[in-house]
Amino acid sequence: MLGAAKDDPIVWDEALGANVKDADGNVFVDLVAGFGVALIGHRHPRVVEAVVAQQHRLLHAMGDASPDITRIRLLEALSERTPEGLDVALLGSSGSDAVDAAVKTAVLATGRSRVIAFDRAYHGLATGVLPLQAYKPAFTEPFASLLADRVSHVPWGCDREVLREVLAGGDVALVLAEPVQGRGGMHAPPDGWLAMVAEESRVAGALFALDEIQSGLGRTGEWWAGPALGVVPDLLCVGKALGGGFVLSACLGTPEVMAAWGASTGEALHTQTFLGHPVGCAAALATLEVLKDEDIPGTVARESAWIRAELESRGYPTRGRGLMLGIELGCDSLAASRALLQLGYITLPAGPTSLGLTPPAVVTRPQWLGFFDALDQVTP
Ligand SMILES: Cc1ncc(COP(=O)(O)O)c(C=O)c1O
Repeated sequence: MLGAAKDDPIVWDEALGANVKDADGNVFVDLVAGFGVALIGHRHPRVVEAVVAQQHRLLHAMGDASPDITRIRLLEALSERTPEGLDVALLGSSGSDAVDAAVKTAVLATGRSRVIAFDRAYHGLATGVLPLQAYKPAFTEPFASLLADRVSHVPWGCDREVLREVLAGGDVALVLAEPVQGRGGMHAPPDGWLAMVAEESRVAGALFALDEIQSGLGRTGEWWAGPALGVVPDLLCVGKALGGGFVLSACLGTPEVMAAWGASTGEALHTQTFLGHPVGCAAALATLEVLKDEDIPGTVARESAWIRAELESRGYPTRGRGLMLGIELGCDSLAASRALLQLGYITLPAGPTSLGLTPPAVVTRPQWLGFFDALDQVTP
């Protein structure tokens, strides 16, 4: 399989809640939630039920041309849940789709085309959004000849003056940030910094977007990290946990900003065959209900505070926010992650000496205590 390392050791067969079972019947605690997707747990019964019911009614509709009832319900539910004003959505499948839609919206709304992103940023690897990432230059370099040189990266946590200088050209359409950098290593922003970035962007006539594909929907202990950190964006990108395990993403914007797409002329300027897939929408509707009914944001806030205190007391510094959990190990993180897998824990490195965990909110305290002991076994 392309992308799988030779020694990738497990083949997933089944997953439920916080557990994954491999093809040999071994059971693991998933502390990454399948790249942050299974925030409410794998195969949540309400999501499965909604998906099955939808499959018996309507499996595929007709993209932008004719909406279906499930999509309309989801769009209403989403706009109830998003920060005030962010009521108009462009749906997509992947996180890359959502970011792509944000960039296109900003170009239309401003008539400009430069984008500012941040060092270590990760916004997906589809060609349109590839130049935005600064997580790993090696991901971009082989395709440089395909990509327009329209992205400026500035340091995460930079001074106001640095930002002003890049914005001064008057050609910036969009400033795009993850509220907490995920794949780049679980870095929360300095206090008040995101609000400053939003303010400077708007003064310069650019739109300000937050990529909450990883941080959104309760993962940081609040429904959205942006408002909790003092800023409501003009555009909000959502994905990963949204579909409860099913592919679905969205770029949400204010009606004023989204008006830039203009009135329909019969053929959509931006669409895809599977836009607003009915099964994905049904799964997302159920996920939004579970997030609310089970108070997943509150659970994340409570459990992450306990987990972080436990880790710190055991000598492991942590970073990030909520269950975007960076853990400093002080040793080779890839080797530690592999050793943890042998002990039954699925983890991912976040930099050479730290782990980056995005676990389901439903990992129990006994499971965490087992993980802390396993950490002690694999670190010096
Ligand atoms: C913050 C952020 N944005 C965008 C993406 C890209 O999402 P996808 O892999 O679904 O295209 C990711 C994926 O990890 C992400 O963490």
